[in-house]
Amino acid sequence: MVDVPRYWYNIVADLPVPLPPLVDPLDDEAAGDGLGSRIGLLVRILPSRLIDEEYTLSRLLPIPEPVREAYRRAGRPTPLLRAEGFERALGVSGRVRIYYKYEGALPTGSHKLNTAIPQVYYAKLDGAVEVATETGAGQWGLAVSIAAAMLGLKAVVFMTRSSYRSKKARRIAMETLGATVYPSPSEVTEAGRRALRENPGHPGSLGLAITEAIEYVLSGERRRYVAGSVLESVLTHQTVIGLEALEQLPEEPDYMVACVGGGSNMGGFTYPAIGMKLRGEGFERTRFVAAESAAAPRLSRGEYRYDGLDTGLVLPLARMYSLGKDYVPPAIHAAGLRYHGAAPSLSLLRRLGLVEARAYSQEEVAEAARLFARSEGLIPAPESAHAVRAVVDIARRAPEGTVIAFNLSGHGLMDTDAYEKLGVAGGGS
Ligand SMILES: Cc1ncc(COP(=O)(O)O)c(C=O)c1O
Repeated sequence: MVDVPRYWYNIVADLPVPLPPLVDPLDDEAAGDGLGSRIGLLVRILPSRLIDEEYTLSRLLPIPEPVREAYRRAGRPTPLLRAEGFERALGVSGRVRIYYKYEGALPTGSHKLNTAIPQVYYAKLDGAVEVATETGAGQWGLAVSIAAAMLGLKAVVFMTRSSYRSKKARRIAMETLGATVYPSPSEVTEAGRRALRENPGHPGSLGLAITEAIEYVLSGERRRYVAGSVLESVLTHQTVIGLEALEQLPEEPDYMVACVGGGSNMGGFTYPAIGMKLRGEGFERTRFVAAESAAAPRLSRGEYRYDGLDTGLVLPLARMYSLGKDYVPPAIHAAGLRYHGAAPSLSLLRRLGLVEARAYSQEEVAEAARLFARSEGLIPAPESAHAVRAVVDIARRAPEGTVIAFNLSGHGLMDTDAYEKLGVAGGGS
């Protein structure tokens, strides 16, 4: 029986070249606004233990016992399942074996709880009474709302305006849990008011919602910002997925696949295996595939350079694949993938050729979601369905004996409106 891991894995310790550090803005754009050094500002924004984890070079980080306990209460370890129905539906039975790690089994419906719990716990250790954050489709905001309710803190969530309208069920779930949810751009912050002045119909972007959440934190006492993705510490927390998967997988896969928004479920699922590959301990032939949205294809078509993590440059700059911090992706249904950049470590691994990337349109993804739902009895989240789509492509071309493992980062039971609009619902088989 697999247990909740005792340690998280930090890939920074095993990277073949040093990870480019976070830096203060290189130009004057952010200077002179009274906030000063962005690196120095982090101590007023993030839980202090998260900052320690962000900069540590240790390979293994002990998971605090209260966090392990909360993981268990929430249902970890999550299952690793064989997708035999899906193999049949794809016509690859007997030729290709497909496994998936199912993070939708958590009460949040996605992997996001894996980092919400430790971050809210760390904020509480700092004496915070409120945590603030951004959210796209609402998966991350819901995870923070659940973790805050579990640990007795208040959650404030800036939800991209397009999702605030279209993902009503998640907004109401957050509010039911006691969270306050604002549509971003909002009237609550200067950054939000400015964006609305410039474009009253602004659909919101994750980059802007981050700026708003941080402005909110800096304008009050005993508040901390909690980060949904991109930071190394967040990817490290998510490695519970991959560490459990290594114990559960009956064979070494030829492919490991995950979707990418900021990179946290991809990093969480694949880094323990990539680490073994880097250390020469296994996974020599495994290919690691990132599935992203054609609406925000930064790993496929972005530039590798220093760029802002958020639109307002309140956070430091990170070296990453980016479409530009001001890029506003079209309002696709997989709102969790509407981010302009990707985590620095994932970007570096892509740069080094250890990670491949494929971008898909939402129509291509919808077709894969339909096939998976009808053959496995599980509705994937629109974000996770990008990984399903990549698996379809790989499996159909794969030679005899190919083994594919992918991360089903969340279920889509609260995204059925999207599937109705995309024509996935109805129409028979
Ligand atoms: C279910 C699900 N999968 C994936 C993602 C993408 O984020 P990340 O790349 O950090 O895993 C999100 C983001 O909201 C999500 O809700």
